[in-house]
Amino acid sequence: MTFQERYEADRQQIEAALAAYFQPEDKPYAGLLLAMRYSLLAGGKRLRPVLVLETCRACGGEAETAMPAACAVEMLHTYSLIHDDLPSMDNDTLRRGRPTCHIAYGECTATLAGDALQAEAFSALLSGDLPTEVRAECARLLAEAAGTRGICGGQYLDTVGRGQLDCAAAYLHMYQMKTSALFRAACCMGAVCAGASAAQVEAAGAYADLLGLAFQIRDDVLDATATSQALGKDAGSDARCGKSTFLSLYGRQASADRIGELTAQAVAAAQRLPQPQFLAALAEELIARPA
Ligand code: IPE
Ligand code: IPE
Ligand code: MG
Ligand code: MG
Ligand code: MG
Repeated sequence: MTFQERYEADRQQIEAALAAYFQPEDKPYAGLLLAMRYSLLAGGKRLRPVLVLETCRACGGEAETAMPAACAVEMLHTYSLIHDDLPSMDNDTLRRGRPTCHIAYGECTATLAGDALQAEAFSALLSGDLPTEVRAECARLLAEAAGTRGICGGQYLDTVGRGQLDCAAAYLHMYQMKTSALFRAACCMGAVCAGASAAQVEAAGAYADLLGLAFQIRDDVLDATATSQALGKDAGSDARCGKSTFLSLYGRQASADRIGELTAQAVAAAQRLPQPQFLAALAEELIARPA
C-alpha cells in the first residue's frame, strides 16, 4: 500500500466512525446536533485522528482499538475551529469549503455546538472499550491539550494579544500551545492505546510537538499565499485581523527553512518508535501541503 492509499484507508474508517455520532432522530435539540454534524462531517484532512491511529500502529498496536480516541480528538479539533471562526475571534465565513458554523446556524448555536463537541469528545473517549487506566490517561492527555496550557491558552495569545510577540521562541511557544498541544495529545493517545513504553510515549510526543510547529507555520504561509477556494477557508484572514505571525515577522524564506528543520527533527523523533515509516513519510508530506 502506498502512503496515499494508507492515509485514504485511515481517513475512510475515521469518516465512518464519526458519522455514527450525534444522529438527530427526534430530539428536541436536533438543531444543535445538526450544527455539530454540519461542522464535524464537512470533510477536513482528518490529520489528528490519522495521527492517533498511525502512532498506535507505529508502537505495535491495533489501530482499531484507538478509534474512540481518534474520534475524540477530531471532535475537540472541530470545536476549536468553530470557536476560532466566531466573530469575536477570527471572524471567518468559510470553513472546510462551507459557510462557517455561525454563518449557517447563528452565533448562539455555533457556540453551543463547539461547547458540546468539546464535552462529547471526552464522552466518546471515556465510553469506549479501552481498559479503564488507558481511558483515564487518554482523557488526561486530551484535557491537557484543550486547556490553558494548550488550545485555550494559545488562542488567547493569538486573538486577545493578536500574536504580538517579540521573538521566534515566543511564536513557537504560542504555536506549541494552540496547535502542537493537540497533535501531542493525538500521538500520545495512540501510543498509550498501543500499550507503549514511557520512552515511546515521550518520542511520540516529541514528534507531535515538532510536526505541529511545522504545520502551523505552513498554515500561516498558506493563509498569505493560497486562495480561499484551494484552502476551503478564508485566505488572508491573519492580515485582515491585523495578526502578527511567524511568517509576517520572519518572511517566506525563513518560514520555509524553519518548516524544513522542524520536519527533519520530527522525522528523527519518529525513528525512536518501533515502526516509524508512515509517521516519517507523513511529516515529509506536510512540508509542502497545498491546503
Ligand atoms: C486548521 O487545522 C487549524 C490549524 C491548527 C492550523 P487543519 O488544517 O488540520 O484543518 P482541517 O481539519 O483539515 O479542516
Ligand atoms: C487556529 O489557528 C488554531 C486553532 C486552535 C483552531 P488559525 O486561526 O490560523 O487556524 P485557521 O487558519 O483559521 O484554520
Ligand atoms: Mg485563529
Ligand atoms: Mg482562524
Ligand atoms: Mg491560519
